[in-house]
Amino acid sequence: TERTFVMVKPDGVQRGLIGEIVSRFEDRGLKLVGAKFVRIDRDLAERHYGEHEDKPFFGDLVSFITSGPVMAMVWEGQDAVAQVRTMMGETDPAESAPGTVRGDFGLDLGRNVIHGSDTEEGSNEREIDLFFDEDELLDYERSDETWLYE
Ligand code: GTP
Ligand code: MG
Repeated sequence: TERTFVMVKPDGVQRGLIGEIVSRFEDRGLKLVGAKFVRIDRDLAERHYGEHEDKPFFGDLVSFITSGPVMAMVWEGQDAVAQVRTMMGETDPAESAPGTVRGDFGLDLGRNVIHGSDTEEGSNEREIDLFFDEDELLDYERSDETWLYE
């Protein structure tokens, strides 16, 4: 089992998509183990998106992600990182399949509604540590776990 960091970005919050997105992950069987509704400051944004600091879109990306509240979450489950990435769709909503979050709710690369840790080794743990203290992640069993896993 694995944990991944997921964030409903400011556009998703403003468009009232938090519930819809949480529902999709709950329905899939993933377990919510941490959540906070926060406005990211510039320092955290620059650290979170550090891998993109040399890209031309970095300034716009930091401005956007700090422009309003985000719903930051940690979801746990079998192969959670890859499963969430599949459910999100491609980075560009225009190339995302219907049925994915970005394919159902987005049109534009710079307003793609959701973030999820990528499959690069350790990026999930790095992002979880940036946003959450260990005692903010809850250890519990979902009552349907024996029906979700063999
Ligand atoms: P995140 O979950 O947000 O990290 O998206 P991702 O992993 O699918 O994409 P990536 O990490 O490569 O890029 C981070 C974010 O930068 C994307 O979600 C986009 O919003 C934005 N972005 C990426 N590439 C471009 C680009 O070429 N132009 C612009 N304007 N934004 C971009
Ligand atoms: Mg990324």
